[in-house]
Amino acid sequence: MESFGRKLEIGPTDNTSDQRTPRQPLRLIPEAARQSFVPYSRVQPGLRAGENDMTRIAPDRPRALGEPIEVTGTVTDEFGRPQRGVLLEIWNANKFGRYAHVEDHSGLQLDPNFLGLGRVLTDENGQYRFWTISPGAYLARPDIGRWRPKHIHMSLRGGTNRLVTQMYFPNDPYNDSDPMRILMGDAFECNVGVVYDTIGTDVARGYRFDIVVGGRNPTFFE
Ligand SMILES: [Fe+2]
Repeated sequence: MESFGRKLEIGPTDNTSDQRTPRQPLRLIPEAARQSFVPYSRVQPGLRAGENDMTRIAPDRPRALGEPIEVTGTVTDEFGRPQRGVLLEIWNANKFGRYAHVEDHSGLQLDPNFLGLGRVLTDENGQYRFWTISPGAYLARPDIGRWRPKHIHMSLRGGTNRLVTQMYFPNDPYNDSDPMRILMGDAFECNVGVVYDTIGTDVARGYRFDIVVGGRNPTFFE
């Protein structure tokens, strides 16, 4: 069989990026055909109260270890139009840099009060807000000593589309050597949260992360 090679550039990312990259040219499926087999509902899943507060595993449970932070932003399309009803699924490491995941073999400390998963829908103005614990940086490639800076993973789902991105933190010492940051180049700034003071809450710091889907200065998606 003829080999077409890879269609996407593979950067110096993690040790499984090659397994997640298409080896064949992508084929565009016509819109009508796409809609005929992709389950699509205008009704997004109902979210339970507290799913956007990752600092607790349940509303009546103690707060997780580390610095609680707020993250807010607006999801817009390339023309600046707010995208309402977008489902954001969020995950990040705990304050020690450990994921509560079977594939995290770091042996770092788990926090029984931090699951590291959350969900939230954008409102009528395309805005979202959630709370989490400021994640620790972690040694992603022990074999070559490569660290990943603090970051929060986010998946956005609207209609039949799903995009996955990461929010970075300003002035993290590992930012400059991060593989995704190297791939992004100057566009990296679009993926760095902007600090703001939170007023009237028990969360010390907030980060504004506006997500732009498409256009000339889009958010970088994986
Ligand atoms: Fe990560």
